[in-house]
Amino acid sequence: MERIPLIIGNWKMHKTALEGRAFVEELIHSKTKPGRSVGLAVPFTSLSMTSVAKKAQIMIGAQNMHDQEEGAFTGEISARMLKEVGAQFVLIGHSERRQYFAETDAFIQRKVKRAVQEQLLPILCIGENAQERKEGRQWEVFEQQLATALEGLEQKQPFPLVIAYEPVWAIGTGQSATPLMAQEVHHWIRKWLEKRFNQEIAGKISLLYGGSVKPSTIGSLMDEEDIDGALVGGASLDVKSFCEIINY
Ligand code: PGA
Repeated sequence: MERIPLIIGNWKMHKTALEGRAFVEELIHSKTKPGRSVGLAVPFTSLSMTSVAKKAQIMIGAQNMHDQEEGAFTGEISARMLKEVGAQFVLIGHSERRQYFAETDAFIQRKVKRAVQEQLLPILCIGENAQERKEGRQWEVFEQQLATALEGLEQKQPFPLVIAYEPVWAIGTGQSATPLMAQEVHHWIRKWLEKRFNQEIAGKISLLYGGSVKPSTIGSLMDEEDIDGALVGGASLDVKSFCEIINY
């Protein structure tokens, strides 16, 4: 099944609004190959660039959201607020959120459900840590993370959802999973999605790999059948390296 390659940059807590805008303008003027979907998960203060970016077909998204519609949740932001300013997607359950902000699978599940309801594309992040892989428990971890995060979704027709496999030990470490390792996991996720939903839905969900993706590693990752794109942290902060990744 044809899935358009999808490259998403995750800026994390980098770039002020001015720096972000300068980056996007430079990106717009750089040559990128057609037939690629490109997005940037930016800090909330950079969401105002959505209209500029949209004209250049660059999707802008957020890195987090709350699961409730609204309420007394100081410091939080809702799916509806993100949508109104033009955000097209939201990262949910990034390992840094799980690790530093104690996000649980149950909280992540409520966020995914809300994002789907509000028609804001959720990019659900899953992945094992070094210890779990060492003990060979990664499959259990994926099962638990996926089963909980997608609980309550009873879709029978394709719906907006992207899953990013990001082994925690590969994030920001320079130690990427090999293409074969990533493909093995992506294939497992695809089969899992087929059982959980159906073949048509599973075939339309893009599976991204994340964790130390660099211009030198993207090509061999993208050669793998079930790797549909990448979630790029460090290497998305520089226009030149991000463009090289888009143009792999
Ligand atoms: P990295 O981050 O590319 O810097 O490893 C990826 C991510 O956290 O999404």
